[in-house]
Amino acid sequence: MNREDFNMLKNNIVYFDNGATTLKPNCVKEAIDDYYDNYTANAHRGDYKTSLIVDDKYEETRDKVKKIINAKEKNEIVFSSGATQSINYIVFGYFKYKLKKDDEVLITVSEHASNILPWFILEKEIGIKVKYIDLNEDYQVTIDNVKKAINNKTKVISLAHITNVVGDVRPIQEISKIAHENNILLVVDAAQSIAHTRVDVQKMDIDFLVFSGHKMYGPTGIGVLYGKYDLLNEMVPLNYGGGMNALFTKDGYIELREVPTRFEAGTPNIEGVIGLSSAIDYINKLGINNIEHYEQNLRKYLIDRLKELDFVEVYNGNNNIGAIAFNIKNVFPQDTAIYLDKYNICVRAGNHCAKILSDAIKVNNTCRISLSFYNTKEEVDLLINVLKNNKNIYNEIL
Ligand code: ALA
Repeated sequence: MNREDFNMLKNNIVYFDNGATTLKPNCVKEAIDDYYDNYTANAHRGDYKTSLIVDDKYEETRDKVKKIINAKEKNEIVFSSGATQSINYIVFGYFKYKLKKDDEVLITVSEHASNILPWFILEKEIGIKVKYIDLNEDYQVTIDNVKKAINNKTKVISLAHITNVVGDVRPIQEISKIAHENNILLVVDAAQSIAHTRVDVQKMDIDFLVFSGHKMYGPTGIGVLYGKYDLLNEMVPLNYGGGMNALFTKDGYIELREVPTRFEAGTPNIEGVIGLSSAIDYINKLGINNIEHYEQNLRKYLIDRLKELDFVEVYNGNNNIGAIAFNIKNVFPQDTAIYLDKYNICVRAGNHCAKILSDAIKVNNTCRISLSFYNTKEEVDLLINVLKNNKNIYNEIL
C-alpha cells in the first residue's frame, strides 16, 4: 500500500524493521520543511504572527493526538522525546511519590527495557517490588495469569499493548477492568501498537499511555505521554525551566503552569511535533482498520511461507499482529541478518532490548521481522528465496 509515498523504498531495499523505526512518508518531510522555510519561530513565547502560527500548529497536534487515542481532553496529552522518556516520567514523576515500600508493580519478562529498568530503579530507591505476570505457552498474557499475579499489595500493572519481539497483543480492556476492580493503576506502552491497531484510552480505560512518533511514520525525538487528567495533575515535573512556570520570585517561590504545559520545560521539539501532526494525518488518511487488515494478511502469508522452511524456527507463529521472531536453526541470528542484508533485506537481530524474554522463549537472540503496510507479498517471497539459499550463508558473509 502507498509505497510511492516513501522515497526510502526507491533505494532497492526490503525494509522489515518497522518495529525499530518506520520509514517516513514525503508528507512528513514536507511538513517539517514548511516549518523551516515558512514559519520558523519558537512555541508559546512570541506575540508576532509567525510565532502565533507555531503555537497553533503545536496545539493543533495535541488535539490530533487526543483524537487518535480518543482521550477525553487535549490537556491529557504531554509531548516528550519518546516512549522511553514518557515511561520514565510516569515512574519518577508520579509513582515515586505515590508508591511505598513493599507495594508491588506487575510487568512481564517480555517488556521492553524501557518498561522494566525504571521500575527496577524505583525498587532500589523506595523498596517497591517488581513482580512478573506469567506468560502462557505462546508468550501471551492471559486474564487468568493476571488474576493469579494480583494480591493486595499490587498497585500498578505496566504492560506493552503489543510486545516488540513476540508481538502478542494484550487484552488491555479486560486487564484494565480487573486492575481497577482492585484499585490498581494501568500503564500501557503503545509504542508497537499505535501505528498498527486502534488504541482507545477511554474504551480501554487506560490510566497512563506512552508511544513514540518515529514508530508511527513521524520523526525521531518526539513522543507522547497520556495520563488521565487527575493523575497528571498530581504528577511532579522532572524538568524545570522556561515555559513550565507561571511565576517565580527571588525567594525561590515557583508557581507552575497548568497541565500539561508544566511538563514541557524548555523549547520543545517543534519540528518533531509538526512532523508527528503530519504522520497522524497520514495514518488517518489510510485508515487504521485498513492498515491492520493489510498487515494481518501479510503477516499470515509470511508465517505460512516461513513454516514451509524446516530449517527455520518461528517463535511466535500463533500471534496475528506484530513482530515475527525466528532463527535459522544453528545459525547465529546476527549472521542471518548480515546474510539478508547482502540482498538488501533489513531485519533486526539480537535481544531487541527485551533481555529477560529469554527466560520464556529459551533463546537469547532472534531475528525479527516487523511489518508495515508498505511491505508486500513479493518482498516476502524474496526473503523466502534468499533464506532457502542459506547454505551459502557463511561463504557469503565472510
Ligand atoms: N524499541 C525498538 C525495537 O524494538 C528500538 O526495535
